[in-house]
Amino acid sequence: MKRSLFAVLAAAAVISCTACGKDVVSRIDEPTVSTEAVTTTAAENTAVTTTAAVTTVTTAAEKPTEAVTTTEAQQEEAPAAVPAGGGESAAQQQAPQQSQQSQQPAQSGPVHSHDAVPTPDNYNYGPAPAQYNIEGLTYIQGVLIANKSYSLPSNFNPGMDSTCLNQFYKLQNDASAQGLYIYDSSDFRSYDYQSQIYNNYVARDGQAAADTYSARPGYSEHQTGLAIDVNQIDDSFIGTPEANWLEAHCHEYGFILRYPRGKQDITGYKYESWHIRYVGTDMSYAIHSSGLTLEEYFGIDSYYH
Ligand code: DAL
Ligand code: ZN
Repeated sequence: MKRSLFAVLAAAAVISCTACGKDVVSRIDEPTVSTEAVTTTAAENTAVTTTAAVTTVTTAAEKPTEAVTTTEAQQEEAPAAVPAGGGESAAQQQAPQQSQQSQQPAQSGPVHSHDAVPTPDNYNYGPAPAQYNIEGLTYIQGVLIANKSYSLPSNFNPGMDSTCLNQFYKLQNDASAQGLYIYDSSDFRSYDYQSQIYNNYVARDGQAAADTYSARPGYSEHQTGLAIDVNQIDDSFIGTPEANWLEAHCHEYGFILRYPRGKQDITGYKYESWHIRYVGTDMSYAIHSSGLTLEEYFGIDSYYH
């Protein structure tokens, strides 16, 4: 499987911030699943499902080698300060610059620079992310679920998924060719870092409000290493050429717009025009063409139990 330790250094300049179905999902028995195997699985699930099989990994924790290599170089941020105003991004932007990302080995330039966008030769076309055989994770049709109903273990600390990142670079480069500037503002966030961010929002806005736009620790997709917040992480991004292009094209790279407008009751979160989730290209096309949210597509809910 192609899993290069791709350049995340980028992030030095990046703001570190933020169930039953027609097919029964087989147990995940391998720490990582080959790209080919995942492709086959995803390709079998292009039809819209009203119910989905949920597989929760209950075997003993076992870290995949590749993921550990990437993961263990990360972590250790100071708490993000509570901003005087603004949305999620405000707090994230006050996070220290020595982000999780910046501690990873550098293999390319910052994604904030047009010049640093990787060339097509650097792309990794692997369509599906790694899968982990770690107790407490929930997969549906190969997709790792993280929402208000399906949590992640506090010690699940995979770092940013390299396939996801490489696909993002491809997206970024193609957008750039159209004169659009899309950059990574926040990607992997550890359990502890999410805790800091969430607690800051609770202190600022109260828990009920915070719960509409920020995930509690252990419930954020950012902890999966498969989610990226792009550009300005607030409503000012809505309706920009970049936001419109992202919504129309992100599925071509394996992403879905995770929290669409008007779906708060289903996803559990307000519209986030900036938050994309990597699910692999087969699944992203299927979900996109269905017009459904991830929750609707799999027939699951999202609320704190
Ligand atoms: N803003 C999203 C919901 C998160 O905190 O993961
Ligand atoms: Zn996000």
